Amino acid sequence: MSTPFGIDFGGTGIKGAPVDLQAGDFAEDRVRITTPRPSTPAAVAEVFVELLGHFPDCTGPVGVTVPGVVRHGVVHSAANIDPAWVGTDADRLFTEATGRDVHVVNDADAAGLAEVRYGAARGRRGLVIVTTLGTGIGSALIHDGVLVPNSELGHLEIEGYDAESRAANSAREREELDWAAWAERLTTYYRTLEKLFSPDLFVIGGGVSKHADEFLPLLRVSTEMVPATLRNKAGVVGAALYAAEAS
Ligand code: BGC
Repeated sequence: MSTPFGIDFGGTGIKGAPVDLQAGDFAEDRVRITTPRPSTPAAVAEVFVELLGHFPDCTGPVGVTVPGVVRHGVVHSAANIDPAWVGTDADRLFTEATGRDVHVVNDADAAGLAEVRYGAARGRRGLVIVTTLGTGIGSALIHDGVLVPNSELGHLEIEGYDAESRAANSAREREELDWAAWAERLTTYYRTLEKLFSPDLFVIGGGVSKHADEFLPLLRVSTEMVPATLRNKAGVVGAALYAAEAS
C-alpha cells in the first residue's frame, strides 16, 4: 500500500507528514502551516491542499485529527474550535477539496492509537486510557489494542465543573497553578476515571507531558501512569495509521 499521510489540525498549527507505518515515525520531515483565523472548515481545507502540495510523491490515504467528536466522518462537537465545524461532513469536504481519500479522527483517539501501537502502551493488553492534557483534555479508551472512539472524558462533570476547565494544562497556565496545586486537581480527575473504568494503565500525553517528572510523581492514583512517548508526533502518526486502516 502507498504511504499514508497524517495531518494534525491544532489551534495554532496544522502539521503534516507522510508516515512510515513500520517505524511509526515520519517518512519525511513534517511541514507546519499556521492555523487560519477563523479556522472554519473551508479555510482549513485550503491549508490541507497547500500542505499536501509539499509532498507530491505521497499519494496514499490521508488521516486528519479534529479536536471534537467525529462519527462516520461528521464532526459533532467543537469545544475549542470554530462552531462552524459542528455538523460538517469533514470526510467529504476534505476528500472533495484535496481529491484524496481522507479520513477524519478525534485528536486524542489518534494519539491513543499511536501510543498503543508504537509508544508508551505498546503491546499492553487490557484497558489503556490515554489522556492528552492541553487546551482541553482529550481521551482515548483502548481495550486489547482496539479503540472505543469518542470517549470525551475531558467533559466529565466533577465537583460541579466540566473536568477540563479545572484540570487541563490551559487551566494550570490560566490560573498560574504550581505543579503541586495542579497535581491535586489531576489526582481528583484520574481518581474519578479509576472509579469509573478500573483501567490497567494511564498514558499521559499533550505537550506538557515533557514535564511529566514535575507532576506525575505528585499524583496519588493507584493505577500505573506513564508519560506518552510519541510526544508531538502522536497526532500525525495516529491519523495516518487510522487512515491506512480505514481505507
Ligand atoms: C474535545 C475533545 C478533544 C479534546 C482535546 C476537548 O475539548 O471535546 O474532542 O479530544 O478537547 O483536544
